[in-house]
Amino acid sequence: MACAYRLGMRIGLLGATGPAGSALAARLASVGYEVVVGSRSKYRSLEVVDTIIERWPDQELSISSGDNATAASCDVVIVATPWDAAAETAASVAEHLQSKVVVVMSNAISKVGREFQPLVPPRGSVAASVQAEVRSAYVVASLHHVPARELALIDAPVVSDVLICSDHREATELVAGIIDRVPGLRPLDAGELSNATAIEAFTAVLLQLNTRYQTRVAVTFTGIGEGPAAAIERDDLP
Ligand SMILES: NC(=O)c1ccc[n+]([C@@H]2O[C@H](COP(=O)([O-])OP(=O)(O)OC[C@H]3O[C@@H](n4cnc5c(N)ncnc54)[C@H](OP(=O)(O)O)[C@@H]3O)[C@@H](O)[C@H]2O)c1
Repeated sequence: MACAYRLGMRIGLLGATGPAGSALAARLASVGYEVVVGSRSKYRSLEVVDTIIERWPDQELSISSGDNATAASCDVVIVATPWDAAAETAASVAEHLQSKVVVVMSNAISKVGREFQPLVPPRGSVAASVQAEVRSAYVVASLHHVPARELALIDAPVVSDVLICSDHREATELVAGIIDRVPGLRPLDAGELSNATAIEAFTAVLLQLNTRYQTRVAVTFTGIGEGPAAAIERDDLP
């Protein structure tokens, strides 16, 4: 695998001018990664970076702006666009994504009235549709359920489990290592990329709970210990 586990690894986000991508960009920069906020417009990206830096003047954030191609040239790339733009966006920068870990956090959801409904995208999941566009990438589906507003509050932990699935164990472990650096987040290996269908669809349930209980829920699972039963072998991580 092309990417080594290391702090200082460059992480680029595609479509990071939205709530999810900008929050994740700020959070990853806050735990020591060098982050590039990608966008179709480098000016929108610059605005987002300026906003983050102004919001956190006391933090030394290594965060820069660029277009999606600049973000895609990083060591690890995260797709943070709406679901129906994810595959197309990945395809538009495919030359930069060859043999890289590409994390897809997009959920295929439709809001009908007050109801959130899961959609089944072509190939069964957004992640699978990205994998189909960039065959040599190590596509990982993750970060679907972490609320953007909490992620953006980089001076506080975000308490949540984070499900990760991919067909490449090293890619799962690399992403687990990144997530593990964020205080409060616990990465969990949720199996192969085929499980992205269920993980993405489950987001509709969480959004419905938010509406019903006027809150922002996060996912935590009981029964997974820190010992040998832990899903991710922590010794393998950096
Ligand atoms: N919000 C959350 O709490 C949260 C949490 C976890 C996961 N997610 C998932 O993360 C994804 C992004 O969420 P979001 O709320 O940040 O989305 P968003 O604001 O709707 O979109 C994010 C960015 O994607 C780019 N984009 C929009 N339409 C595009 C198109 N047709 N082609 C290419 N790029 C396009 C835009 O950036 P530019 O115009 O600058 O290119 C936009 O700012 C969603 O799939 C969501 O399900 C969200």
